[in-house]
Amino acid sequence: MACAFLAFDAREALAQDANVKAAGLDNFKKYCSSCHSIGGGKLVGPDLAGLKERAPSRDWAIAFTKDPKSQNDAYSKKIRADFNDVMSPQSKAAGGALDDQTIADIVDFIFAGGPGLAQKKLRTATAADIDTGRAIFMGEQRLTNGGPACISCHSIAGVTGLGGGTLASQVGAKNPDLTAAFNRNGGEAGLRAALGSPQFLVMAQVYGKQPMTEDEVIALTAFLGDASRKTEPDQRSDYLIIYGIVGAIALLFALDFIWIKRFRNVRKTLVGDQS
Ligand code: HEC
Ligand code: HEC
Repeated sequence: MACAFLAFDAREALAQDANVKAAGLDNFKKYCSSCHSIGGGKLVGPDLAGLKERAPSRDWAIAFTKDPKSQNDAYSKKIRADFNDVMSPQSKAAGGALDDQTIADIVDFIFAGGPGLAQKKLRTATAADIDTGRAIFMGEQRLTNGGPACISCHSIAGVTGLGGGTLASQVGAKNPDLTAAFNRNGGEAGLRAALGSPQFLVMAQVYGKQPMTEDEVIALTAFLGDASRKTEPDQRSDYLIIYGIVGAIALLFALDFIWIKRFRNVRKTLVGDQS
């Protein structure tokens, strides 16, 4: 008897899983997986494994997904502060792409632990990847699918010196210097995801249609990880200040020199002829 009940329960659970999967998997992959894994580690946003246990409720999860910035309870405030308020509203009503039913289905899919969601695991990086990453960053090795070298827009303390690009800062990037990008983007898993499918304005524009290959993503992530461990974050700004002071003094001398020359010339023309 007990056996039959157990078997029935198990079959029912399987059928339920299949329904949840059918309703949620594709949309989760399409709309959420660039920023969230379920059990694969932190990406741009938190790992959603265990959300059912930590979130205030299913209704909360639905409301947060619809429009994160509209949620101001203590839990929402903390998670928004921890991740810098990056997630945009997903519901049509708030300017996103999804209707209410789809969002509810996705939340149920997450609460069920993401049945059928394969977590893509990239291979472990090697020491050679760091060198390859540096070569790609500096533009010594071309990206397979094209696209500009990172150094045309970014710098890294201790590596690019003052030669690094400033384009990223000119178009308003908050962090044009990538020395601390590894930690800022959630370590290896997060940075790999961020480079593999860039979410933001310029990076998405530049590399969305000519994506970096898996090996290139692994190499660049390894290089940025290495840079974040090796370099002191403030080094570059110190240099900048010193260069700035030296530059200012040099400029004063140059101006002085020009001024003195002019002054002498003027004196010559004013005074010289009389003698
Ligand atoms: C552009 C990246 C991005 C996309 C796409 C995205 N999210 Fe998020 N999500 C985040 C970030 C970042 C946070 C943390 C809060 C913040 O900073 O806005 C978050 C937080 C959450 C949370 C709260 C997590 C927790 O641990 O309590 C839920 C739930 C969530 N997202 C669901 C979704 C769902 C469902 C989708 C797809 C329909 C989705 N998100 C799409 C980036 C994203
Ligand atoms: C055309 C200019 C440009 C190029 C080339 C470029 N980036 Fe970016 N990058 C930006 C801008 C601008 C941002 C700020 C976010 C945005 O708008 O995409 C950014 C953001 C980033 C971030 C997140 C910033 C942080 O520290 O959290 C990383 C990581 C990054 N870029 C890595 C790279 C790598 C690696 C390359 C080379 C493969 C590269 N970028 C090439 C312009 C560029």
